[in-house]
Amino acid sequence: MKLPAHTPIEDPGRMLNFMVQTVWGLTDPVRFYELMDEARKLVVPGSYLGDNLFTWGRSNSLFEDQAFVKAWESNTQNDADRAIAWRRYILACSAYHCAQLPGDFVECGVYRGTGIKTMIDYFGKDEFTKTYWGYDTYDYNPVEHHKFVGQEDGLFKEIQQRFAGYDQVRLVKGLLPESLIDNSPEQIAFLHIDLNHAEYEIAVLDVLFDRVVPGGIVILDDYEWGGEYRLQKIAEDAWFDKRKYRVFPLPTGQGMVLKR
Ligand SMILES: C[S@@+](CC[C@H](N)C(=O)[O-])C[C@H]1O[C@@H](n2cnc3c(N)ncnc32)[C@H](O)[C@@H]1O
Repeated sequence: MKLPAHTPIEDPGRMLNFMVQTVWGLTDPVRFYELMDEARKLVVPGSYLGDNLFTWGRSNSLFEDQAFVKAWESNTQNDADRAIAWRRYILACSAYHCAQLPGDFVECGVYRGTGIKTMIDYFGKDEFTKTYWGYDTYDYNPVEHHKFVGQEDGLFKEIQQRFAGYDQVRLVKGLLPESLIDNSPEQIAFLHIDLNHAEYEIAVLDVLFDRVVPGGIVILDDYEWGGEYRLQKIAEDAWFDKRKYRVFPLPTGQGMVLKR
């Protein structure tokens, strides 16, 4: 597979700043952004504010990778999509690695498909020659209180149209884990699990983890988030501990597992 080109850095002194006013869990948003405006004046360049991250003095590598910037910008549909740019770059770098392994790509929890499409477009669409499976109920959300904007009859059709011309993508509509039966790959290079629900995520791991090839990557989107998401981490830590794995908690809120 032809891999995305590396972007050489011409000016090491040029540091990019990024801010999107989308973070979650604020008790007083007005006060928070007043204080953040102050704080951003007190730090060196290379800042990132969004998706519950505030960092500074960082290279912000994602914005220096031109192939990624193009893919990310052409796929963001709202401020929440923009805010999670760093999470998307973790997916893009995982794709770069896993594209060179045997096996297909799988996402459990697709919603509008922005994650899958950003990853494929990072390679330049047609250059991505792996099969990418996308499992979701699409037209409704089986997880209570988690319905996303537009999750109603017709969403699946809309997402199918969004992927028109992406012949490497197989969208599978149905409830996980049952929808995997007789309709899932035997070998997996990359597995992204984003269901916002501990039992569903464990059920999917039960079926798919053994199919991930050595060197393959599993990303658990909500692993390191607090609040109700902690139920996922607690269940997943116990599940992986039995198999002698540790999940790498990423500052983006994701968890990463490197398959042996
Ligand atoms: C956070 S969204 C996925 C976002 C997507 N990964 C992205 O990168 O944009 C979670 C999705 O999981 C789906 N979902 C949750 N539980 C499911 C299950 N048991 N079977 C199928 N889909 C499920 C929901 O319908 C929802 O669309």
